[in-house]
Amino acid sequence: MAKVYINTAIPYVNGVPHIGHALDYCLADVCARYHRLMGDEVRVSAGTDEHGNKIQQKANELGVPVKQYVDENAAKFKDFISKLGVEYTDYVRTTDSDHERLAQEIWKKLSSHIYKATYDGWYCTGCERYVTKKEYDENHGICPDHNKPYEEFEEENYYFRISDFKDQIKAAIESKELLILPDYRAKEMLALLEESPDVSFSRPTSQLSWGVPIPGDDSQVMYVWMDALANYLTVLGYPEKEISDWWPATAEFVGKDILRFHSIIWPAMLMGLGLPLPKALVSHGMVLADGQKMSKSIGNVVDPLDVINRYGIDGFRYYFLRHIDTFSDSNFTWEKFENAYNNELANDLGNLVQRLSSMFSKHNIKFLKHNVKFSEQYIELMNNYEYSKAMDYVWEKIQNLNRKVDEEKPWMLAKAGEMEKLENCLNELGNGVVEVAYELLPFLPGSAEKILAVFGADVTPPSEPLFPKNRE
Ligand code: MSP
Repeated sequence: MAKVYINTAIPYVNGVPHIGHALDYCLADVCARYHRLMGDEVRVSAGTDEHGNKIQQKANELGVPVKQYVDENAAKFKDFISKLGVEYTDYVRTTDSDHERLAQEIWKKLSSHIYKATYDGWYCTGCERYVTKKEYDENHGICPDHNKPYEEFEEENYYFRISDFKDQIKAAIESKELLILPDYRAKEMLALLEESPDVSFSRPTSQLSWGVPIPGDDSQVMYVWMDALANYLTVLGYPEKEISDWWPATAEFVGKDILRFHSIIWPAMLMGLGLPLPKALVSHGMVLADGQKMSKSIGNVVDPLDVINRYGIDGFRYYFLRHIDTFSDSNFTWEKFENAYNNELANDLGNLVQRLSSMFSKHNIKFLKHNVKFSEQYIELMNNYEYSKAMDYVWEKIQNLNRKVDEEKPWMLAKAGEMEKLENCLNELGNGVVEVAYELLPFLPGSAEKILAVFGADVTPPSEPLFPKNRE
């Protein structure tokens, strides 16, 4: 039994959760449930990122005290996670006093790699990121992700000497000691690392007051990404607690837009602390709405709770884990969603369970359950974090079972009184469904449990459809 520690990126609380935020949580939850199924002991961290300019500015715009603003929004994110059926063991808000104290301890431990200098350059508040001259020129001074001009400033900051660790980070990525997925992103990160300057690690309080104070210098607060990345450690109590049972993390789930922070600053911080690197950084693509980035101004933001309230947690998880590709950008449209729900969940899976279990019960057939063994192919896909492909693989099995029902026509066997043949046929199909249900446990936990309950000691058809159609 291994100990597995899984991290999810902590979202900024400068708004309410949207469907894009669900991916980190859903993927991490699949990973956690899969490892538990394999007998591992699992911890999952989650939380919210509550400092920085973006949040301070938003609260100011609304005329609300920042603390009140983050408290209100943080509660919405916490509620959102539980609505997704995602289980976590450890939760951190970066405004928690424990986190702030531990982040300061981490700063002190890194002090031999920190120096003071003047920053003269650009910043994007949307990205919470310093921008190099090269990027500034390439983008003609405007952030392509936020469509806003970069802010220029000159100020005295503390810097973190990334250059102390560049060679080691490069070696860790190349040797896959730090596995970056998908593979092509590892190459992108190596190129970014090459040109990464030392990073400014603080802001003067005259510019940003909403942050963790630098130990011994109240005139500066930490750069929001230093404070945020530290969460994966502070949530375990580091450096006050011994964490070697759980650290390094087995996998960190992050969007492709924030992979750069996790591939450069974060490994450098860990190396500075003398800690091992996470084993895998799994970066997912973006969820697009009708082919476009979701944005309030375009008016195409999809409220995840709207989907969940109408189609249930597993309806939501199914689409997000299969039709949103694990690694590349994918589209959400209501039409695609409804087709997938009706044709695949309700018809392929729901009807199969309904039809089979009814025949078992009607003809009083005894179910002889086999021991379930996960196939090598499934295990390989799951171990490689190929979750949408693993779902495709399971669905192929479901379709084969449906084909078999159509070909073998068990109702004809019953009509002809061929009871032994009927028993064999239904048992083979029933065991196929049980196998599929086990493989679906990490993805659709509620529905998979229901299916396993149907195919229990006696087969008892579900009293209600697993995936009811015509939802309002
Ligand atoms: N606060 C930082 C993360 C710090 S982790 C130490 C941050 N927050 S965020 O709210 O902007 O994003 C949180 C996560 O949601 C990221 O993994 C990001 O990629 C993901 N997504 C936000 N919008 C998304 C989509 N439209 N689609 C998919 N994921 C997206 O970055």
